[in-house]
Amino acid sequence: MIQLFNVTKSYGGESPAVKDLTIQIPKGDFVYVTGASGAGKTTFLRMLYAAEKPTRGQILINNQNITRIRGPQIPYLRRKIGVVFQDFKLLQSRTVYENVAFALEAQGKKRYEVSKKVYQALKEVGLEHRLQRKPLELSGGEQQRIAIARALVVDPLILLADEPSGNLDMDVTLDIMRLFKNANARGTTVLLATHDHSLHQRFPRRVITLEDGKLIADQQSYQG
Ligand SMILES: Nc1ncnc2c1ncn2[C@@H]1O[C@H](COP(=O)(O)OP(=O)(O)OP(=O)(O)O)[C@@H](O)[C@H]1O
Ligand SMILES: [Mg+2]
Repeated sequence: MIQLFNVTKSYGGESPAVKDLTIQIPKGDFVYVTGASGAGKTTFLRMLYAAEKPTRGQILINNQNITRIRGPQIPYLRRKIGVVFQDFKLLQSRTVYENVAFALEAQGKKRYEVSKKVYQALKEVGLEHRLQRKPLELSGGEQQRIAIARALVVDPLILLADEPSGNLDMDVTLDIMRLFKNANARGTTVLLATHDHSLHQRFPRRVITLEDGKLIADQQSYQG
């Protein structure tokens, strides 16, 4: 469960990036976060994994108040959260295997367990034959699927995806949506920031719309 109470984030400019946002997202929800460029989508997602601190208001994740979370606690929060960015943020000098294994190794998992989970996650995204490649030896769509495998390999409670298909064609985008749907079906709460309305048309789910940092619409969808 994600709860925001009157959350405002100001970077110091005249107008806050997120304004007085109050919202509840139950466990297992699938939510699109939409709004024009600059509306505050990325800021909203970044606050949920403590990459930004709110200026005012409270954020609770599974009843844990992360508003004033401090350095040493942040890794524990991030274990619960998988993040996928538009620009992938893969480690270029590491292999596909190492990129996906990284989070599990950081958790101190045993080596056989790491290799089993990495293989499963790569199989899920259809890239188990690319283990030893470096990210730059892969296509954009393949890199994005690796980034998704990396986010999902830890079985996160929450998946945050920020324009994950921004530069990719429709076939790859649908493939990525299938992965998010599968993760959601296994119980992961998914928040997906996107400009792409066709995703919602194909796969209707709850839509949150931001405008100038304010929540202007929150539409449930009972289809799909
Ligand atoms: N690190 C920062 N420092 C100062 N201002 C920022 C910072 N990050 C974002 N902003 C400002 O906050 C507002 C919201 O930005 P944000 O990136 O959250 O929007 P967005 O909805 O994700 O936009 P886009 O669709 O272009 O990705 C914008 O006015 C932006 O210029
Ligand atoms: Mg953004």
